[in-house]
Amino acid sequence: MFEALPALSPDPILGLSAAFKEDSNPHKIDLGVGVYKDEHGNTPILKAVSLAQQELDKRETSKVYITPQGHQGYIDGMLSLILGAQSPVLKDNRVAGVQAPGGCGALRILAELLMRCNKDTVVWVSDPTWANHIPLLGDAGLTLKTYPYFDKASASIKFEAMMDCLKEVKKGDVVLLHGCCHNPTGADLTNKQWQSLTELAVKNGFLPFVDLAYQGFGESLEEDVYGLRLLAESVDEMVIAASCSKNFGLYRERVGLAAIIGKDANTKKITQSQIQSVARGIYSMPPSYGGALVDIILANEKLSEVWKDEVTEMRERMITLRKLLVDNLHKQGVDKDFDFVNRQKGMFSFLCISPEHVRTLRSEHSVYFVDSSRVNIAGINHSNVEVLAKAIADTLKSH
Ligand code: LMR
Repeated sequence: MFEALPALSPDPILGLSAAFKEDSNPHKIDLGVGVYKDEHGNTPILKAVSLAQQELDKRETSKVYITPQGHQGYIDGMLSLILGAQSPVLKDNRVAGVQAPGGCGALRILAELLMRCNKDTVVWVSDPTWANHIPLLGDAGLTLKTYPYFDKASASIKFEAMMDCLKEVKKGDVVLLHGCCHNPTGADLTNKQWQSLTELAVKNGFLPFVDLAYQGFGESLEEDVYGLRLLAESVDEMVIAASCSKNFGLYRERVGLAAIIGKDANTKKITQSQIQSVARGIYSMPPSYGGALVDIILANEKLSEVWKDEVTEMRERMITLRKLLVDNLHKQGVDKDFDFVNRQKGMFSFLCISPEHVRTLRSEHSVYFVDSSRVNIAGINHSNVEVLAKAIADTLKSH
């Protein structure tokens, strides 16, 4: 029966890693998959994580199953990191949560939960959004529609058009928002724009679904959740998918969190039981290891400080790299004004060049990034930036 299925082309993001590996050009540059890299192109284990691993090694005396909900300490630690320790929704016991296998796992189980509520649920996603949002939510059966978000010509957010579209969204529809460091554009809403959006969510009754995969990579751990916290304090219901892949560097351990804010403590009982049953029906229980490490870090003041310093270091490095790229592009005499790259946040920037230019950069210069023109800023370093800027300048001039 399987021969009737079509063979599929590689994933638009993950497929780039395989193509990059096969390229024999010694000057090849990988700006594809969203993974933090240091000046030497490595993704080392964070110091806080190494210390937590040593501690876990001592503490863990069994490999017996954990529960479908995961480590409660992890869930509590993450909820206070995201919502704030003093969050009224936490005080009112309105938040259900489970440890999920990565941010992807969190997105999928929340999608399944939304399907249990109403199989005709419509989810509005930004145009553009992270490519994997589409299968993660769509394959669960949700209907996806897009709202305008980013204007490539001006390299800025089309906020008016976004709001005009969301004004028409029906009560009970779901609106997927990127908590910070929008993937793929790096263009984030201002606090004032979050305020207007929150007012609209309250007025129109759509359900905010916040994907938070880069907390700490934009402005700071606190400032990056301004919009999320404002929504949480203002609406009756909301869902959150969070990831520890990037800010804890725990990519392969698959550590995420799915949280549901309900109207009251009684609703929490319902959603907690439902989301655990969704998890049980898909993968039974999350992998233990990464969540246990995050639990150890967040519960220990000293380790938390070590970790926060590392997040700051990663963020500041990426801000420096943005400037380095823009300065080098200007040095190469490009006509296009790339200053917008300095205003974008987090790991990604949209260079706002055509897919043809992106493909030329790949085939003629061995520079790898997603066709949409999304680059992983962390893949830039002092040794490759000049080659990169020259490759971009040559491509823009000659095609
Ligand atoms: C990315 O956007 O590159 C990362 O989140 C990795 C992935 O799974 O796509």
